[in-house]
Amino acid sequence: MHVCRRILLLNLRKILLFVLFVGTSTYTYLAATFPYEEPTDSKILSRMLQDVRSPRDKREVISEKLQDQKSVSKLIIKDVEVEQSDEVDPLEYIFGGFQDSSVTTSARPRTSKKPPPKAEAPPAAEKRTAVIVMTQMRSGSTFVGEIFNQHPEAFYFFEPVWALEYNKNKAYNSSKWQLKLLEGLSKCRFEPIRDIMQFYLTTKELGVMKTCKAIDKMCDGYRNKTAMWPGRCPIPNDQFTEILEMNCIKNTFTAIKTIRLNDITLFKPLTEDPELDFKIIQLVRDPRAIIASRLALVKNNVSVTNQLHDDVDRTEVRAVCNWMTTNMQPYREKREWLRKRYALVRYEDVGLDPITTMARFYRLINIPMSRDVSKWLGSHTKTSKKLKDRKDPFGTKKDSEKTANEWRTRLSFQQVEIIQSECKEAMTLFNYKFVESNEELKDISVSLYKKRPPLLF
Ligand SMILES: *[C@@H]1O[C@H](CO)[C@@H](O)[C@H](O)[C@H]1NC(C)=O
Ligand SMILES: *[C@@H]1O[C@H](CO)[C@@H](O)[C@H](O)[C@H]1NC(C)=O
Ligand SMILES: *[C@@H]1O[C@H](CO)[C@@H](O)[C@H](O)[C@H]1NC(C)=O
Repeated sequence: MHVCRRILLLNLRKILLFVLFVGTSTYTYLAATFPYEEPTDSKILSRMLQDVRSPRDKREVISEKLQDQKSVSKLIIKDVEVEQSDEVDPLEYIFGGFQDSSVTTSARPRTSKKPPPKAEAPPAAEKRTAVIVMTQMRSGSTFVGEIFNQHPEAFYFFEPVWALEYNKNKAYNSSKWQLKLLEGLSKCRFEPIRDIMQFYLTTKELGVMKTCKAIDKMCDGYRNKTAMWPGRCPIPNDQFTEILEMNCIKNTFTAIKTIRLNDITLFKPLTEDPELDFKIIQLVRDPRAIIASRLALVKNNVSVTNQLHDDVDRTEVRAVCNWMTTNMQPYREKREWLRKRYALVRYEDVGLDPITTMARFYRLINIPMSRDVSKWLGSHTKTSKKLKDRKDPFGTKKDSEKTANEWRTRLSFQQVEIIQSECKEAMTLFNYKFVESNEELKDISVSLYKKRPPLLF
C-alpha cells in the first residue's frame, strides 16, 4: 500500500514535470516533428504558438477556435513519444535528412554528455545564420520570402542577384560575383560589394528600399522627412558600408530570396565557411501551375477564369523541371555539405499550411519564431475584407486549395499532357499527381497534392 502510494506520487511528479516541459519548451517541436502523413491542423498549431508566445494576450488570436480537442492531445502524445525515444532527429525527419537509416535511427540519448565528434569549426553561436530561398519565376517566392522578411530580427534581401544582372558593370554578371555577393550579405561584409549594394539599395525598379523591412527601416533613418523628395536610401556616401554593416549585424540573421540562381552547388563554399551557418531552402511548385501562371503573366488584363490557349513551350517546360530535379540532386546523393542545411518545400504545402511551414523554417535555421510573422500570415491567409489582401496568394484554406488548383481550369488537357510528358521525373519526385483525362483534370474534388513526397518536407 505504502509502496504503491509512493510510486504514484513519484509518477505524479514526473507527469507534472513532463506536462510543464511540454507546455513551455516544445511548441517548435510540435511544429517540426509532426509527421506529414497526418496533416497538421494549422489552427491548432497557431493557437499553440499563440499560447506559448503570449499566454495573456488573447486578443490577437490567428485562429480563434480550438476545434478538435482530441487532435491536440493526439498531437501532444505523438510529440512526447518522439521526444522520449529521441531516436529521430526531428529536423532530419521532417526535412528528409539523407534518408539514411543508420543516421536517422541511431539512438542518441539526451542524457549523454558526449558531444558528437566534430571538426574544429567554431561553435554555432559564433557563426552568423544566413538562409537563402532559391526558386524560379512564378513559384511563390515572394510569399515565402515574407516568412523571413516579417521577422523583426531578419536582415532580408529581396532578389539581390538582380543588382548583378542589371548593373552597368557587365562584369558583375558572373557566378564569381554571385558568390561574392552572397558571402557579403551573409556575413554583413559590404566593402567588397559596395558598388553593387549602392545600386541595389537605390534602384527604383526593384524597390528594395520599401519591400525589405529592415532595409526600409535603415534607409528611413536618413530620409529627410520634411523634404518633398526624401530620397530612396540617402545613406551618407562616406559611411555607406559602415552603416550597412552596423544595421546588418544588429539583426540576428540574414535572409535572401532569389529566382536568379540556377545551380545549388554555388552555395557549397558558404555551407563550408566556418564563419557561417548557411541554410538553403529550395522552393518548388507544380510545373503545370508555373506554366499556367507564366502564360497568364505575358498577357495584360486576363481574367483568372480565362482559358489560356497559348502553345506550351516544351523547351521552357523542360528547363523548369530540370531546374527542380538537378538542384535537388546533390541532396539525393547525400552530399555532406548539405547535411542539415537543406530543405525542399512545395509551394502547395506552404499554401495549405503556412503556419507549419513557418515553424519548420525557423526550426531549420535555429532561430526563435516571431509573432510578427504568424500575425502577418494570419492576416494574409484568412478571408480578408480588404481587396488588397485578397489579391495575396492565399485566402482561407478553401481559397488556398482553389489557388493551388486554378491552373486546372485554365489549361487544356492537351497542354497539361505536354507538361506532364516533359516533367515525368520532377512530378514523380515531388509527388505531383498526374491527371489521366480531361475529366480528372477538371474535377477539382480530385486532389493532386494530398500526398507529400516521401521523407521530404
Ligand atoms: C547575365 O548572364 C546570363 C548568363 O550568364 C544571361 O542569360 C543574362 O541575360 C545576363 N543578364 C544581363 C542583364 O545581361
Ligand atoms: C530637409 O528638407 C527641408 C526642405 O527641403 C530643408 O529645409 C532642410 O534643411 C532639410 N534638412 C536636412 C537635415 O537636410
Ligand atoms: C479588361 O477587360 C475587360 C473585359 O474583358 C474590359 O471591359 C476592360 O476595359 C479591360 N481593361 C483594360 C485596362 O484593358
